[in-house]
Amino acid sequence: MDDRPIGIFDSGLGGLTAVRALTAAAPWESFVYLGDTAHAPYGDRPAEQLRALSRQNVRFLRSRGVKALLVACNTSTANAMDVMLAENPDLPVLGVIEPAAEAAVSATETGRVGLLATAATVASGAYERAIRRLDPGVQVTASACPKLVPLVEAGRTDPDDTELAAAAEEYAAPLLAAGADTVILGCTHYPIIRAAIRRAVGPDVTLIDSGAASVGALLKALEARQALADRKTPGSRRFFCSAGREMFVKTGSAFLGWDMAGLTEQAQL
Ligand code: DGL
Repeated sequence: MDDRPIGIFDSGLGGLTAVRALTAAAPWESFVYLGDTAHAPYGDRPAEQLRALSRQNVRFLRSRGVKALLVACNTSTANAMDVMLAENPDLPVLGVIEPAAEAAVSATETGRVGLLATAATVASGAYERAIRRLDPGVQVTASACPKLVPLVEAGRTDPDDTELAAAAEEYAAPLLAAGADTVILGCTHYPIIRAAIRRAVGPDVTLIDSGAASVGALLKALEARQALADRKTPGSRRFFCSAGREMFVKTGSAFLGWDMAGLTEQAQL
């Protein structure tokens, strides 16, 4: 049993989709969350930069004494997971891609899966590889969505926002044309604009939330190491962002449904 916090990071608000799932499934777990808003979006950056930023985030969270790391960012998972695993052999380090790929493969009935993700995640081919390993018969159609994360970080999450609605339609179109019955929200920011994406894909497509899917794998890994929290009272919650604290708190609190203001600090990375 281990009451130390779990370290969670993303480029910004996206990893809060994992936080929401974690606080629902295991409210007694403590966590430290880092949103690297000073460098968001990550999705248009080259792999070398993504590796450096991922290392920086891990260093920051490790300095806070975490018992495990959840990389709640598909772009970092796709481009830097090998470095983070190699450099932190003493901690469980989990990403979001394997759990989301597993959920998609078990959900699809037609064997046609769509992927909405950042340009850097799509370019990495990480989802295609993970899905091929699980079921080589499943066909993946991917759409890179560079306009979505900047809109979310700017707090533009309303499905009636015309720019957001148009972008969601544009990115969903090739997936629908390919006959996808299941669409992976392969960027943890996208469940925050789930309503806009739902409108764009229609009512019948199954949406897979990569942040939420990762929480089951995280809790299983902690259980296997007998490292779940021992308490039965709510764990501690701390949030850090590296820029724009006010917007981070405003959009994040609206998504989580509770006030993050007293729990959030701006950090120098
Ligand atoms: N939320 C992240 C992801 O899952 C990063 C998005 C970005 O910063 O471009 O990929």
